[in-house]
Amino acid sequence: MPVRTCTVAERLRSRIRPITSFPEDPRAIPDPEAWGHHVLSSPDLWNAKLGGPHPHAPGVPCAWIYVSGGAILGHQGVLPALFDLGTSTVPGAWAVDLYVDPKERAKGIGALLTERLEQVAPIAAAGGLTEAAEVLCRRRGWIEPFELMTYVRPLSLRGLLRAIGIPAWMRGSVAAIDALLAVHDLARVRRARGVLTIRGIERFDPSAEALSQRLAPSIGAHARRFADTLNRRFLDHPTRRYRSVGLFASDRLDGYAVLRTGSYRRVRLGIIADFLCAPDRFAALMAAAFSALRRDGADIAIVRFFGPAFGRAPERLGFLRWGTRLPLFVHVRSDLRDAMPDLFERPWFVTWGDSDMEWELPA
Ligand SMILES: CC(C)(COP(=O)(O)OP(=O)(O)OC[C@H]1O[C@@H](n2cnc3c(N)ncnc32)[C@H](O)[C@@H]1OP(=O)(O)O)[C@@H](O)C(=O)NCCC(=O)NCCS
Repeated sequence: MPVRTCTVAERLRSRIRPITSFPEDPRAIPDPEAWGHHVLSSPDLWNAKLGGPHPHAPGVPCAWIYVSGGAILGHQGVLPALFDLGTSTVPGAWAVDLYVDPKERAKGIGALLTERLEQVAPIAAAGGLTEAAEVLCRRRGWIEPFELMTYVRPLSLRGLLRAIGIPAWMRGSVAAIDALLAVHDLARVRRARGVLTIRGIERFDPSAEALSQRLAPSIGAHARRFADTLNRRFLDHPTRRYRSVGLFASDRLDGYAVLRTGSYRRVRLGIIADFLCAPDRFAALMAAAFSALRRDGADIAIVRFFGPAFGRAPERLGFLRWGTRLPLFVHVRSDLRDAMPDLFERPWFVTWGDSDMEWELPA
């Protein structure tokens, strides 16, 4: 009779299981303080944002958890995604939160949790990783095909001067520049209103997916946007207030931008968390976003996105490149990569969406 030896990896693997809400038993979390390295790891937030089932990916869990001694000691959280690659549609997932309890690290659990994701998702993507997670992904054959750039665009020089402690009497000297900037942005909005309607979006509906599919071939954004994901991640966010502006051409959604405010040091940030439009609508959409953010009191607009499809349009609108580099890691099943040698010729994404961490810029 053959003797079956159970390797350490098999034993660890057998303790990993998928879940669709998180966690089933909140008492299973050993130490909520130690648990999360960022806010997504709060169970309520997790379920509000990631809990399943997801209409376009019913089989994909919201996380794989590693359970030992009745406690959840590791998790890999995922957000289902769909990619339009040429003529085929390929299911995939964003790896949004990998965590292993400090006592359990360096045993291979992080790698095994990631392995489960790779098995379910022919395409998996992750951005904004910690150094440890970057090493882990590289060792597992994930590649770094694209880089996300950070762009900033001043909205109020007075606000920026205030943030660095310049006294009020000196700040008055830039009031005229601020007024010019505001008038310039408003003029763009007015020009756009000649052919487009610009209005807030209360709920995303299937027109967002239609827009995403329509634009995929021209801007190379293979990652499809879904109304339910946009609503879940942004408009229904349990703790953070986002708002969205849309461009409409004869009632057809032609672009959207999702906005929120935040702060870094004393600078009031206007964060363009996500946007989608054709390159020839970029100026109109950004001008609408700038005006909305200015009304919300932002000193500076900031957006992280994969630039190439938009050429020099960001610079023409006064965006400056911030030096940060944010790599995006992607794992693609080998048969897909073999079938599509030009797979990485264009970035698949327009933006990364928003981080669940508080916004941070390098000092
Ligand atoms: C990142 C993390 C999940 C790794 O989990 P883990 O179970 O310790 O990782 P594993 O034991 O499976 O290691 C997998 C590979 O990554 C490498 N690795 C893991 N942690 C590392 C670290 N701190 N520095 C460098 N490499 C590291 C290992 O060397 C290993 O490669 P090898 O098998 O070729 O030796 C864990 O350190 C963690 O939870 N960190 C805090 C939260 C975090 O950073 N999450 C990532 C969010 S993006």
